[in-house]
Amino acid sequence: MRAVIPVAGFGTRLKPHTFSLPKVLVNVGGKPILGHILDKLVEEKITDVTFIIGYLGEKIKVYVNTIYPQINAEYVEQKEMLGLGHAIHTAITTLNHEEIFIILGDMIFDADFRKFLQNPTSVLGVKEVDDASKYGVAILNEDGIIEKLVEKPSDPISNLALVGIYYIKDAKLLEDCLNELVEKDIRTKGELQLTDALQLLIDKGEKIKTSKIEGWFDCGNQETLLLTNKFLLSKNSVSTRRENVVIIPPVFIAENAKVENSVIGPNATISDNCEVLNSNIKNSIISSNAKVENSLLEDSLVGPYAVVKGKTKKVNIGESAEIEI
Ligand code: UTP
Repeated sequence: MRAVIPVAGFGTRLKPHTFSLPKVLVNVGGKPILGHILDKLVEEKITDVTFIIGYLGEKIKVYVNTIYPQINAEYVEQKEMLGLGHAIHTAITTLNHEEIFIILGDMIFDADFRKFLQNPTSVLGVKEVDDASKYGVAILNEDGIIEKLVEKPSDPISNLALVGIYYIKDAKLLEDCLNELVEKDIRTKGELQLTDALQLLIDKGEKIKTSKIEGWFDCGNQETLLLTNKFLLSKNSVSTRRENVVIIPPVFIAENAKVENSVIGPNATISDNCEVLNSNIKNSIISSNAKVENSLLEDSLVGPYAVVKGKTKKVNIGESAEIEI
């Protein structure tokens, strides 16, 4: 079994953090988004992994090679961002006709990967959503087998959205379909879509089912990243008691972070080597080596090595006075 993780994208919706970091290395819940995925793969003993890299790909190589030496990583470069189908096509040289498990690099799944991969047929992770027009969707026949896949439908033909995990049994056939997609330049909304390659797979007779994934957390923009952070902390709150620091769980506070005279939480991540002094931080992610002083932060993202400094104020006001600071 080989895992394939596309991580080539620009992460435009997560600027300015993605000016210097690929999106999948942005911190959430105390470690990079990609780290959460790789931990789950290692747990399932899936260590043959192809990374499709592009924008800031060298940083991904360094991260994986340093933190996950047990992963037998292959890197392929997607030189143009032509879509997910094109990305997976780039990885064909590493597939060796093995079964493959494709996972989008910017999603976190609270799902049992082992159960998902024990399916006797190919299977796609799905979730029922109110508005499926932003996603690829699946239409099933009465036996629960996918009849049709449509990328970003303009009509509400199905509310079963593809969430970004795909287990494909017949990788050789998928390779043929990806080749056909690219050779015939089959595009939807201007992109070579994985959804369209999978439709070709269905047309060629591959039986594909769906599996409902309830825990599906997107990290694509600031709002969803903070919601994912909140979810991860709710599963695993990490902190040690510190003098003069009030902790309102759940939080993640790195052991080596310096935190003094502050209120941390709920839903706050304080990463490695951060310094937080005289501050109140809730529902926020403070990335490694950042410094926050005299500040009240809520719903905030502070990137690595960034510095936020507020001011303490001095007042001298008398009875019944009213001021707003
Ligand atoms: P997204 O479209 O969500 O990621 O693709 P993005 O393009 O980096 O983000 P925005 O839209 O600019 O904000 C989902 C995953 O698929 C990868 C991305 O890197 C991300 O992990 N991807 C997408 C590729 O590797 N290549 C592509 O051509 C498209």
